[in-house]
Amino acid sequence: MIDFKTEEEIELMAAACKVVAETQQVLVNAVKPGVTTLELDRLAEEVICDLGGIPAFKGYRNYPKTLCASVNDEVVHGIPSAQKVLREGDIIGLDLGAIVRGFYGDAAITVAVGSIPESVNTLLRVTKEALEKGIEQAVVGKRLSDISHAIQSHVEAWGFSVVRDFVGHGIGRQLHEEPQVPNYGRPGQGPRLKPGMVLAIEPMVNMGSYHVRVLEDQWTAVTVDGSWSAHFEHTVAIQPSGPPRVLTQL
Ligand code: MF3
Ligand code: CO
Repeated sequence: MIDFKTEEEIELMAAACKVVAETQQVLVNAVKPGVTTLELDRLAEEVICDLGGIPAFKGYRNYPKTLCASVNDEVVHGIPSAQKVLREGDIIGLDLGAIVRGFYGDAAITVAVGSIPESVNTLLRVTKEALEKGIEQAVVGKRLSDISHAIQSHVEAWGFSVVRDFVGHGIGRQLHEEPQVPNYGRPGQGPRLKPGMVLAIEPMVNMGSYHVRVLEDQWTAVTVDGSWSAHFEHTVAIQPSGPPRVLTQL
């Protein structure tokens, strides 16, 4: 069942999402060669708590950390580690969630560590654009899979592939609510979008094939072919009319 939010509830979600967005900004500025993903995790936890939030991922289904830090061929759910040192030319996905007054916010971004090849830069740009195109469809009267289709079309037009095994989701008093929001599919399917729906839209895009596998640590998802992968996510609220409110945008 989809949980529709009142305007008051959306304001509470906006507060949680603001904590996520501000923390993300701090982390983006901290990414540089030599930094470990564990250091980024510590920073994330400190900033979320300073801003009055609770880390949403830590303890969620036994996930051990605050941040998901996914480097290069890691797609999502990379577990921060002191052994994982960022190097010039890497890319890193920073996925964060926070709880404020019982409501969740969730967002992700992928950034370059120093300079990266043009082909990888295109991957980041296209994935971010795919998220934006998905968000453009998140308006009253459209159906859920219009979001999915817009994302897939953009990604595939650039020769990249959309991960199937992980999807976006409704969000609110829980991190994962109905509906699932796939990043692929035919348009015009699924529930009609209505005001009060709050969705975490999160394309995961591979340079090679879309197949992924999960490592022994039970979390880290990597591409099967070793190709690099990008992930962007926003929490958005469907409005009575016009474009959605992007709650995780500062
Ligand atoms: N943004 C991801 C998601 O929505 C992050 C979840 S990581 C977990 O699924 F540890 F919380 F599972
Ligand atoms: Co999410």
